Amino acid sequence: MRLDKFISSQRTDLSRNDVKALVKKGLVTVDGKKAKKSDMQIDENTACVQVSGEEISYRKFIYLMLNKPQGVVCSTKEGACPTVIDIIPEKYRREGLFPAGRLDKDTEGFVLLTDDGQLAHRMLSPKSHVPKRYFVRLEKPYEQGYAEAFESGMTIDGGEKCLPAEFIPLDKENECEVVLHEGKFHQVKRMFEALGNKVIYLKRIMIGALPLDEALALGEVKEIADITPLEQR
Ligand code: URA
Repeated sequence: MRLDKFISSQRTDLSRNDVKALVKKGLVTVDGKKAKKSDMQIDENTACVQVSGEEISYRKFIYLMLNKPQGVVCSTKEGACPTVIDIIPEKYRREGLFPAGRLDKDTEGFVLLTDDGQLAHRMLSPKSHVPKRYFVRLEKPYEQGYAEAFESGMTIDGGEKCLPAEFIPLDKENECEVVLHEGKFHQVKRMFEALGNKVIYLKRIMIGALPLDEALALGEVKEIADITPLEQR
């Protein structure tokens, strides 16, 4: 791969022209030697490339865990509201990065961002049934019968039939967790509406077997080192 292509594919804040300028200034090294030309060929799997002393390690795909705050939309298009791509640090931005699964604007929590289209496709396929766990605060106390209703596969407004889901009551009478195996539009909210209640706060806390890192503040992002738990049921 060309050196400039390699660097700008891993660091989208650096264009190929930027790389050219950095090479001219002698700030790019390949295997410890100053690069002479920005179009030189390198083996992206073995070369040790440094820019201003910082190593650029080659990752084919990137997987990010974002703790999405309210007011941010899960889209890649520019609009009135900031998108999940707008709020992540420059160093993580790459061509093709997108949210694999959406949360509503007013929902917080775990959003997976990746440029791995195949993984995203598997996760988003209706057949995948990868569990998603949510923390829910309700307007009114939950009632006896909610667990059964969730488990039996509820019908929500418009006659849509849901797959069996789990309802887990928490200590506070209006707080619970819910595990879904699909992702219909506004699904958690609509399921509680069908039971005559209302969601007043929603946060996704787990995808597959990977919990949202509790140390991650709202708006913060981190790389997922091991993606295996993402697809575990
Ligand atoms: N269910 C909802 O109602 N909203 C979300 O953002 C996610 C699941």
